[in-house]
Amino acid sequence: MTVRIGWIGLGRMGEAMAKRLVKAGHAVYVWNRTASKAAPLADAGASIVGSKQDLAGCDIVFTMVSTTDDLKQVLFDEGGLVAGATRPRIVVDSSSISQEGSAEIRARLEAMGVGYLCSPVSGNAKVAKAGKLLQVASGPQALYTEVEPYLQAMARKVMWVGEGELARIWKIAHNTMFGVIIQNLCEITVLAEKAGIPRHIFLESINDSVLGSMYTKYKTPMLTNLTFDQVTFTPKLLLKDMDLGLAAARAHGVAMPSAAATRESVARLVGRGHEDIDFAVLLVETAKDAGLELKSENRKMSDGLES
Ligand SMILES: NC(=O)c1ccc[n+]([C@@H]2O[C@H](COP(=O)([O-])OP(=O)(O)OC[C@H]3O[C@@H](n4cnc5c(N)ncnc54)[C@H](OP(=O)(O)O)[C@@H]3O)[C@@H](O)[C@H]2O)c1
Repeated sequence: MTVRIGWIGLGRMGEAMAKRLVKAGHAVYVWNRTASKAAPLADAGASIVGSKQDLAGCDIVFTMVSTTDDLKQVLFDEGGLVAGATRPRIVVDSSSISQEGSAEIRARLEAMGVGYLCSPVSGNAKVAKAGKLLQVASGPQALYTEVEPYLQAMARKVMWVGEGELARIWKIAHNTMFGVIIQNLCEITVLAEKAGIPRHIFLESINDSVLGSMYTKYKTPMLTNLTFDQVTFTPKLLLKDMDLGLAAARAHGVAMPSAAATRESVARLVGRGHEDIDFAVLLVETAKDAGLELKSENRKMSDGLES
């Protein structure tokens, strides 16, 4: 029998991930709060539904929204996915949310007989589109085994990291490093440029050094050409993640000085009004702090994500 898959949340990440499920040949039913954003999924072959409860009859429903409160809202509030008499068998959430919020959601879903897997990802929408996400999961291992083929349709690699909310801790740790790396990459790029090394040459050399990564490579064209309007992730979402990282560090008694400094830098970026823009705009602010006004180097460059 065909497994019916539901999807809630077609933002930058959700759209790219749901499309991969459709392209893999699965029957996918989608809902988004802003209905117009669902149109590209219909073009790809998904079925659009009019309400969250229209997905309640699905076997598995994936969610990709912004925060813990948003996830609670789409699941439990009036008209929410599990607020009616019919409920899906399994909910798989990929949003970046807190461990505590996730545990509360697990308790409520499991009390209703709905299985719950946390499954955050590493990678942005372009990485997702290219099928290069890393997707981890935690929760009951039997559930993971059942859901694994669908995760594999979306990611280059999938991993089960343990029971309960451990995948949330994984994601929080991952995104703390994500923030710390961009902070330091911006600092050293400004240092190199102010000293006289052209930005694209410096970034290319870092990418080809032992320190280069998929992340430093895919941020390089944006940092070189200052195309921050091509938003992958906003300063506000990064601030949320740095706060989650520091809260987890406090809860587990771990000192994280580099994360603490980065959190303040990202908070300043948000405070300066950078909203609908990529978080890599941090480069411009770092340069300003050094008395340097950056210009685009207008170079055609690869981000390493071409399929
Ligand atoms: N962007 C990245 O590179 C990246 C990478 C990994 C993980 N993440 C995480 O993935 C999640 C989504 O990120 P994104 O970049 O895709 O964000 P986004 O583009 O802002 O999309 C957010 C999605 O959630 C929906 N949503 C938010 N609050 C809602 C609510 N209360 N009720 C119903 N729908 C709601 C939005 O609906 P509308 O369209 O109606 O606004 C939209 O579909 C976040 O937790 C983020 O931290 C992002």
